[in-house]
Amino acid sequence: MSSFNAYLISGNAAQVSAGFAALTDAALDPGEVLVRVAYASVNFKDALAATGKGRIIKRFPCVGGIDAAGGVESSSDPRFNAGDAVVVHSHGFGVSHHGGYAPRARVPADWVNKIPAGLSLLEAITIGVAGYTAALAIDLMELNGLAPGKGPVMVNGATGGVASISIDLLAQRGYHVVAMTSKKDQADYLHLLGAAEVVASDDLPPATKPLEKALWQGAVDSLGGEPLAVLTRTVQKDGIIASIGNAVGIAFSTTVMPFILRGVRLIGVNSDNEPELRSRIWQRLGSDLRPRHLASIANLKKFGELPSIMEAVTLGRIRGRTVIEIDPGVN
Ligand SMILES: NC(=O)c1ccc[n+]([C@@H]2O[C@H](COP(=O)([O-])OP(=O)(O)OC[C@H]3O[C@@H](n4cnc5c(N)ncnc54)[C@H](OP(=O)(O)O)[C@@H]3O)[C@@H](O)[C@H]2O)c1
Repeated sequence: MSSFNAYLISGNAAQVSAGFAALTDAALDPGEVLVRVAYASVNFKDALAATGKGRIIKRFPCVGGIDAAGGVESSSDPRFNAGDAVVVHSHGFGVSHHGGYAPRARVPADWVNKIPAGLSLLEAITIGVAGYTAALAIDLMELNGLAPGKGPVMVNGATGGVASISIDLLAQRGYHVVAMTSKKDQADYLHLLGAAEVVASDDLPPATKPLEKALWQGAVDSLGGEPLAVLTRTVQKDGIIASIGNAVGIAFSTTVMPFILRGVRLIGVNSDNEPELRSRIWQRLGSDLRPRHLASIANLKKFGELPSIMEAVTLGRIRGRTVIEIDPGVN
């Protein structure tokens, strides 16, 4: 049986090491669908997993990579056929089940999504789990009343993957997007995605009162921690905050005042969804929620460059979506 190169995360919860190792199909986890992986990406969670900065990996050793796009080689599930273009993400992928940093992945059919017609494999992975989660957040926010014309929408951690696609999607739907970033020199990129305003995170005054001046009708939060606390105090009446990430921290402190006096809605967004919801959101990503700036958002890297990227991602020193070419010849 021929072997292939995989980026394997080994060790235990206290001590993690990651590097390339030779595997064969016999080492892959069980699943109905065998995928030839063309591309994977580096998400914040991938970098926490590979560096051991976060206790992400639930089963050692584990091939990293929480999302991948490629072609179905074989499937025992009738929903998929050989040759289907698919994207795999969420659930245990790259966490408790071998993930996308290998040219082959075997996964449960319920984790597999058909790529909508009109999106290439490269475009699908540029969206990846980050763009899927951004689209899900916007879907949920609009169900809860977010609408263009009701006021600005804040997107923090703006140069990150989730945020870049959120800005693109919100702007094309007619929202006035305020992008908050730690990288003042990336204003041109953020305006290109559609941000109407770019603010530097360290220029914002601290929010200390239970209710501060109401500034935003909604916010997409990738950061958690103190930035999320500030959002609860600065969102306007009936405003909606989508809590997606924790790039700054997991704990935040606020009061009940925004919730009981302004009716602020804090919505949790989680990408581990049932196939019906995932399919609906991916269909939207190929149609009315199709990002317009994927070529500018994608930052392509070779498979061999993977180890050198991880540290920078944990420090927020990246822009857009870092896409890894695993076997770009797959179609
Ligand atoms: N809920 C879900 O299902 C789900 C799905 C996908 C992602 N997430 C989470 O969403 C968050 C964003 O994910 P992502 O993949 O978009 O991340 P990413 O591409 O690595 O971007 C994170 C961004 O956060 C900002 N940032 C500010 N302070 C930071 C710090 N101390 N360390 C690192 N980044 C910092 C940076 O943007 P600026 O420099 O522009 O401020 C950075 O580019 C992560 O916490 C991730 O785990 C959750």
